[in-house]
Amino acid sequence: MVYEATATAPVNIAVIKYWGKRDTKLILPTNSSLSVTLDQDHLRSTTTSRADASFEAGDRLWLNGKEESIKEGGRLWTCIKELRGWRAAEEAKDAAKPKISTFPLRIASYNNFPTAAGLASSASGLAALVASLAQLYELPQNASDLSRIARQGSGSACRSLFGGYVAWQEGVQADGSDSLAVEVAPREHWPDLHAVICVVSDAKKGTSSTAGMQQTVQTSPLLQARLKVVPQRMADISKAILDKDFDEFAKITIADSNQFHAVCLDTQPPIFYLNDVSRGVIALVEELNRAHVEATGHLLAAYTFDAGPNAVIYAPEANIPTVVAAVNKYFPQAEAFPDPFKVGTAAALPAGFNE
Ligand code: DP6
Repeated sequence: MVYEATATAPVNIAVIKYWGKRDTKLILPTNSSLSVTLDQDHLRSTTTSRADASFEAGDRLWLNGKEESIKEGGRLWTCIKELRGWRAAEEAKDAAKPKISTFPLRIASYNNFPTAAGLASSASGLAALVASLAQLYELPQNASDLSRIARQGSGSACRSLFGGYVAWQEGVQADGSDSLAVEVAPREHWPDLHAVICVVSDAKKGTSSTAGMQQTVQTSPLLQARLKVVPQRMADISKAILDKDFDEFAKITIADSNQFHAVCLDTQPPIFYLNDVSRGVIALVEELNRAHVEATGHLLAAYTFDAGPNAVIYAPEANIPTVVAAVNKYFPQAEAFPDPFKVGTAAALPAGFNE
């Protein structure tokens, strides 16, 4: 009997940003956040896990073919421990269940987008890992339950357990039991919303999200002002999504991205994620929006930036050609983008996976 499972999870891009933890061990955020999950066909992580009594003792894990250590007490270790504990509890309830929770694990995760895309892969990667182990262990938990575990791997990962429009509710409990992801609306509710990803730089970011957000929590007075406005924004953007109101969605998305980067600048020492090209993209979208409002009364597109210089532009499908033409005109690409969608599949298991 082979105990193996493969699961995939998509990338998500926040429109209300998560930035700051009130508990760094459990990964409990200082504010709720909301994201749009990108299309699985394009950007996703795929993870295969196997449990086997004949494996050499100890769990092993590979990310994009490179072995990573699973440090005791670390984030990966915590996710694996939680899921294994759940399996052990199920085994204790049902004597017929094979005791696979005691077997060593081999886990291999791949992204189908090149690292050169400059996209954070931790969210989709951790979500796929949790989904694959939950499947391997045949756990009865639902996506929100699993999001609680993925959250402890990387905060933003909890939102990648769902497709469509997803909120991560900050919760109030000290044990994190109510800090989880919920669906705001499924993808089919508003399929007209599209995303364009503008890769400004594929260099690794100078300040990691994990380090940067805690610097902000410790030093930024502006963060306190931000925490006061986020709850209303969460309510307003959820309504905009339910109403398919792009103008309202775009207004809030833009405001939240800019406030997040203002808070980064207000951190001591300041954190600069945007560069001149990023600011050029902001100026371009603002100008396109100004002209579009004049002509039609509606916004054309919304930009948002995570902890790096790359822009994600959201727009209704009909506006995408205008966005792409303007970006190509003002930011001609130096080189063709490598074929992004054929990089790795979980079928290509690394050497050592079966030992
Ligand atoms: C700017 O989820 O990567 O992308 O919880 O420390 O792993 P950790 O941080 P991470 O932070 C993501 C920050 C962000 C905003 C967002 O995705 O909400």
